[in-house]
Amino acid sequence: MTPLVSIIVAMDEKGGIGKNNRIPWHIRKDLIRLRDMTKGRLVILGRTSYESMAGYYDKSGRPMPAGQYIVITHDENFKSARNNTFAATSIESALGHAKENGEKEVFVIGGETIFKQFLPFAKKIYMTVVKGNFGCDTFFPNYSGFKKLISLENDSDEGIDFTYKILEK
Ligand SMILES: NC(=O)c1ccc[n+]([C@@H]2O[C@H](COP(=O)([O-])OP(=O)(O)OC[C@H]3O[C@@H](n4cnc5c(N)ncnc54)[C@H](OP(=O)(O)O)[C@@H]3O)[C@@H](O)[C@H]2O)c1
Repeated sequence: MTPLVSIIVAMDEKGGIGKNNRIPWHIRKDLIRLRDMTKGRLVILGRTSYESMAGYYDKSGRPMPAGQYIVITHDENFKSARNNTFAATSIESALGHAKENGEKEVFVIGGETIFKQFLPFAKKIYMTVVKGNFGCDTFFPNYSGFKKLISLENDSDEGIDFTYKILEK
């Protein structure tokens, strides 16, 4: 069975998702939520975001939480020191790998180029909207096709207000 493709994204009020290859806010609660949602699961992400995330975990000394990472890259020789990380050289091969693995739901976690290409395949978006404008240089694409608001919850942490939304097509 083809897995359900879900997107997890945190964006500011301008739709910004990153700046200088980093996420320009730090919200512990949101990171814990991402960790809990992806723990042991299959995650798909772009090579740039993977390197940024792996660097963050390397510094903290903690293991990366997902069960498997599929890194999208044009580099056929891509290798990671982590034994739960695999490369895919196209969107289709990443989805094919997830299907072969028997996954029911896979999580696409960024960045900009990956969100753009996976949005047509996605049925669900787990979104965190962070209050403010963080002067980002990368953005989430137009998601006007996701018209069903499944849930909405306001929260705050470390002096930052944000809203969790779950949207479906
Ligand atoms: N706020 C959030 O939720 C969130 C989440 C994740 C990331 N981010 C932010 O997003 C930014 C990074 O986004 P980005 O768009 O620059 O990078 P990205 O989407 O993470 O990765 C781009 C790379 O993916 C590979 N790629 C993309 N499409 C491909 C395809 N069709 N076939 C093969 N390979 C493909 C290429 O890797 P190669 O160059 O190796 O070929 C490309 O350079 C950072 O600022 C990051 O912090 C934010």
